[in-house]
Amino acid sequence: MILVLLGPPGAGKGTQANLLAKKRSLVQLSTGDMLRAAVAAGTPLGRKAGAIMERGELVPDDVVIGLIAERLDQKDSGGGYILDGFPRTIAQAEALDHLLAERGTTLDKVIEMKVDDDALVERITGRFACAKCGEGYHDLYKLPKRAGVCDRCGSTEFVRRKDDNEEVVRARLKAYYAQTEPLIGHYRKQGKLRAVDGMADINLVQKAINQALDTP
Ligand code: AP5
Repeated sequence: MILVLLGPPGAGKGTQANLLAKKRSLVQLSTGDMLRAAVAAGTPLGRKAGAIMERGELVPDDVVIGLIAERLDQKDSGGGYILDGFPRTIAQAEALDHLLAERGTTLDKVIEMKVDDDALVERITGRFACAKCGEGYHDLYKLPKRAGVCDRCGSTEFVRRKDDNEEVVRARLKAYYAQTEPLIGHYRKQGKLRAVDGMADINLVQKAINQALDTP
């Protein structure tokens, strides 16, 4: 199965992709995570992408298409992929169709996560993670059980994404509405779009996605 999770920053794409990957033995492919890994490694691509990401703009299509093409060639697909944060432009969507056709496969479904902008800003600006194991936390909704100590690995170091401040979140939302939202019509025309309420509780969103995937 090959899926795309589509939605604005903070819609819960990463959260839901992670749960789905475990439940359905799928591989989660997040272009955001790939780009952040390149930034952390200080590669030439990472240096170029890092500045763009800090402004909340989209990295050029050829860069992310190249990352995905390379990743699709690795032999760990299991039961398939969940694309989290890709495609984000019509050019990326067309490139994805082409890449999948070259590999003798096709996109099955696109899940649109519908959310409310103000809630997104609150969700994103409160988000932080354990620096060692990556466990996610939130200032309002999910604090570590023991203050300052990761529930999962016991580390006392936490990190926040550089692009998770209100000003950059607003720029990311602007980029979403200008460049990514048109994909909703694109996939609706292809008959692949299914919408879920991303404002519900995390487990209910997961249930709705699974129902959408299991219904023809
Ligand atoms: P990326 O890393 O993809 O970020 P994003 O799309 O802005 O999405 P986020 O990761 O912030 O949010 P999410 O929807 O995954 O939500 P999450 O599950 O974390 O991209 C970053 C940057 O990289 C882009 O700005 C761009 O520059 C570049 N980039 C990446 N891909 C690109 C591409 N294809 N083309 C060009 N440039 C690209 O949840 C957020 C928070 O909400 C968490 O704290 C979570 O616990 C909480 N939460 C989740 N669900 C719920 C719920 N149902 N109820 C309450 N809280 C919830």
